[in-house]
Amino acid sequence: MLKSSLISLALAATLISCTKKSETSNTNTSASSVTELTVGTDAAYAPFEIENPDKTIQGFDIDIINAIATKAGFKVKIVNTPWEGLFNQLASGDRDILISAITINDERKKVMAFSEPYFEAVQLIALPAKSKVTKFAELKNLKVGVQIGTTGDEVVSRLLGKSNANIKRFEGTPLALQELTNGGVDAVVADNGVIRNFLANNTGTFKTLADTSFSKEYYGIAIKHGRDELLKKINEALAAIKTDGTYDAIYKKYFGEAAL
Ligand code: ARG
Repeated sequence: MLKSSLISLALAATLISCTKKSETSNTNTSASSVTELTVGTDAAYAPFEIENPDKTIQGFDIDIINAIATKAGFKVKIVNTPWEGLFNQLASGDRDILISAITINDERKKVMAFSEPYFEAVQLIALPAKSKVTKFAELKNLKVGVQIGTTGDEVVSRLLGKSNANIKRFEGTPLALQELTNGGVDAVVADNGVIRNFLANNTGTFKTLADTSFSKEYYGIAIKHGRDELLKKINEALAAIKTDGTYDAIYKKYFGEAAL
């Protein structure tokens, strides 16, 4: 009696484990397609990321992340994500990767991991063509536009004081530059590439001013801390596209001359 019930128990267990096995192998088969990773970018930042009227997103960063994905063997889905809250999207897991002309700095390194640098930048001042300003320090008593939470915001906050009402903080850099066009601010401080791009499309009305007090900045691709394997893949692919000429071709497409 006892023996036969033991046998049937064993049989049942075998049956269960068989069912489990076949379930597992089914899942494996369907998951054999390439992983798709979600990439967040604040696509109002030409020439790095810009949304076209048909909602597709293009730019230097987009070409870079696509080239990296091709090399590393994963797929990417680019999602336009406002700058404010962008970093939180990594923490929540809603985005796997951020590429958004993000300057690597110590404070940000605490909340996310960065790839090796992929672009060198520096702050630049945009001024109306008739402005008398000759150096950054002269902005101290003027109205200055920045994109909120950017490194431009940081340098201006240091000069004017963080809570100074003369700092006009905008959700996007194009909005700050629009305000310069409208005469609502006397200057805008933002990344050089974006200011130059704006200037190229608004000839004659504006000028730029560089300042030696601004230190070099390096853009990095951000992912969540702890995704070491993904970080390694990204860094290896970045190194590979730098070696095989892909990076230089992309750089040339957007900035005219080959990267150093
Ligand atoms: N490099 C600057 C920073 O990291 C500005 C980046 C803004 N990027 C954007 N897509 N809006 O703070």
